[in-house]
Amino acid sequence: MNSPVCEIKNLHIEYPIAIGTVRAVEDASLNLYPGKVLGLVGESGCGKSTLGLSLLNLVRPPGKVSKGSIIYKGQDILTLPGKKLLKLRGRNISMIFQNPLTSLNPLMKIKDQFYDTMIHHEPGLKKEAAMKRIEELVELLGIEKKRIHEFPHQLSGGMRQRIMIGLALIMKPDILIADEPTTSLDVIVEAGFIELLNQLRQTYNLSVMLISHNLGLVAEIAERVAVMYGGKIVEEGSAESIYSNPLHPYTLGLIQCIPNIKLENQHLFTMPGSPPDLVHPPPGCRFSPRCPKVMAQCRKELPPLIRKNEQKVACWLYRENR
Ligand SMILES: Nc1ncnc2c1ncn2[C@@H]1O[C@H](COP(=O)(O)OP(=O)(O)OP(=O)(O)O)[C@@H](O)[C@H]1O
Ligand SMILES: [Mg+2]
Repeated sequence: MNSPVCEIKNLHIEYPIAIGTVRAVEDASLNLYPGKVLGLVGESGCGKSTLGLSLLNLVRPPGKVSKGSIIYKGQDILTLPGKKLLKLRGRNISMIFQNPLTSLNPLMKIKDQFYDTMIHHEPGLKKEAAMKRIEELVELLGIEKKRIHEFPHQLSGGMRQRIMIGLALIMKPDILIADEPTTSLDVIVEAGFIELLNQLRQTYNLSVMLISHNLGLVAEIAERVAVMYGGKIVEEGSAESIYSNPLHPYTLGLIQCIPNIKLENQHLFTMPGSPPDLVHPPPGCRFSPRCPKVMAQCRKELPPLIRKNEQKVACWLYRENR
């Protein structure tokens, strides 16, 4: 495998709130590789968006990274001065935010929204040259170039979403963070999105972090998958090994929750219990109160993330000396 384009190392992120501290991300380490998609999955509130935002150093205060580093091109993003950070955002690393359809400016034509982004990174860029690049990208995204002269409300939901992708890609970044990019789309448009993302990452050798609670969607495109639970990465591995041989009982539960339309009379599985309180997490393994395989040790000690075959897993089931 190539060397990583970005290394997230032992990252801890907290939000101080009135009743204590939300430990949204705890000791997360992940690598992003050029041309590859990493799927980040887990239930609502497990810390996916917080982790994604940290790659742009965009965790909203009073939220803060309390420990760890994010190394991109030999530099720690988290300690970059403001000016360098502004250059990096959008040009090197860009993000499609959760709820993309509300992120476009309703008062600006599509072409002007693109031009604003481009001129920010390339002051002095000529309008004609910019328009040519915008038209080329929009066509690559499957939208007629004349539509860039329209306002967002004149486009369909699927088109607006592709425009959001376009805005994230116009500067040809190395890394794209796509946070739940298809939540508001129907399944046909969603399928188109996956195909498009696949094509774009090959064209641009783009590294993608695809954040989703939908393991089925991630399975379609990701090479590697990281599963988060209660702020921690509990399993990581190649998509193939995670789906064919999930090790963590939580990952298995998530996979069982994916409906399969090929099965008749299928009993839909739901995971009992609810995600942990991240201010007062349960002692030991965060998943222990819901785990069908819980043991006494799980309620006392937090399992470390260890290597097991092709995967990494944080579960006491896999410790030989337990
Ligand atoms: N600005 C904030 N202030 C306080 N707590 C926050 C803030 N943003 C997020 N959190 C908390 O941090 C934890 C992680 O939130 P985050 O939004 O990263 O989760 P998520 O996995 O992206 O969830 P979802 O699937 O619903 O988008 C949650 O417990 C959330 O309540
Ligand atoms: Mg989120």
